[in-house]
Amino acid sequence: MAGAMSVLVVSAVAAAADVKIGFVVKQPEEPWFQDEWKFADIAAKEKGFTLVKIAAEDGEKALSALDNLGAQGAQGVIICTPDVKLGPGLVARANANQLKLMTVDDRLVNSKGKPLENVPHMGISATKIGETVGQAIVDQIKARGWNMKEVGAIRVSYDQLPTAKDRVEGAISVLKQNGFLAQNIFDAPQSKTDTEAALNAATVVLNKNPGIKKWVAFGLNDEAVLGAVRATEVAGLKATDVVAVGIGGSDAAMNEFKKPSATGFYGSVIISPKRHGYETTINMYNWVIANKEPEKLILTSGKLATRDTYKDVRKELGLQ
Ligand code: GLA
Repeated sequence: MAGAMSVLVVSAVAAAADVKIGFVVKQPEEPWFQDEWKFADIAAKEKGFTLVKIAAEDGEKALSALDNLGAQGAQGVIICTPDVKLGPGLVARANANQLKLMTVDDRLVNSKGKPLENVPHMGISATKIGETVGQAIVDQIKARGWNMKEVGAIRVSYDQLPTAKDRVEGAISVLKQNGFLAQNIFDAPQSKTDTEAALNAATVVLNKNPGIKKWVAFGLNDEAVLGAVRATEVAGLKATDVVAVGIGGSDAAMNEFKKPSATGFYGSVIISPKRHGYETTINMYNWVIANKEPEKLILTSGKLATRDTYKDVRKELGLQ
C-alpha cells in the first residue's frame, strides 16, 4: 500500500502548490517586461502555483537562471532571452535541468539564424505591426500636407534581433509603397535596446542631414522611438515637424501621451503584455500539470493609439 502511494506521488506533479515556473526577462527595467511579470503573477495567484521572476541581462545570467530554477525544483520556464543566438545552449541547459521551455517576445535561433521551431513561442506579428506603424506615419505625412519626397526617416535599428528587423522593415515597406524615397531612410543602429542608445544613434543621423527639416521615426519599441524623438528635440526640431510611432504601449508611451503638449511621439501600436505574461504562464502551467503542450507558435496583434485614443484602446485590450 505504502509502495503504491509513493509511486503515485512521484509519477506526476500532484497539485498546483507543487508547481514552480520561472519567468526570465532580458530587460527588467523596461515597463513592457514589468507588465509581463505583473500579468504572469496574476496567473500564478489565480492557479495557486509559484512564479519565480529572474532578470537576465546577458547570456551568462540567462544560462545560470536555468540552473538556479533547476536547483529549486522548478518544472518549467518562460524566457525572453538577452540574445536569441543562445538558442541551442538554452535548450540544452533547460533539458539538463529538466525544465519545460517556452520563449516569449524574442524567438530563439540556431547558428544559421533559423528559428528553433520546436520550442513553443509567443511573439508579436512583427511585420504586420511594423506595417501598422508605417501606415500611421504615411497618414500623418498626408494629414500635415508634407511633401513625401522631402521627409527623412530615422530607422532606429537592432538588426541582430529578427523581430526588431521585421518590425522596421514592415514600416519601410509601407513608406516606400507611398512614395517615400529610399535614399531618405537612414539607419540609426542602437548598441543596446534602450532610449539612451537610440538617442545617440538618432543624433548621428540628424547631424549628418541638416538639410532635411521634416522627420519620421520608427524602431523596435517605444523606447527606441522615444530616443529618436529626444534627438529631434535636442537638434531643435519642432514637435509639429516630427512623426514618430512606437510599438508597445506600456508606461514609456503613456507618460509621453500624458505630457501637457504633444511631442514628436505621435503614436504607439499597443501590444498585449497581458497575453504575453498571463497567457504564456497559464500555457506553461497546463503543460506542467496536465502535460498539455502549448501551441508551437502564437503571434499576437497590436492596435494603433495616439494621445487622443490611448485610454480607449487600452480599455479595449483589457489593460486598465
Ligand atoms: C522585444 C522588445 C520589447 C517588446 C517585445 C514584444 O522583446 O525588446 O520591447 O517590444 O519584443 O514582444
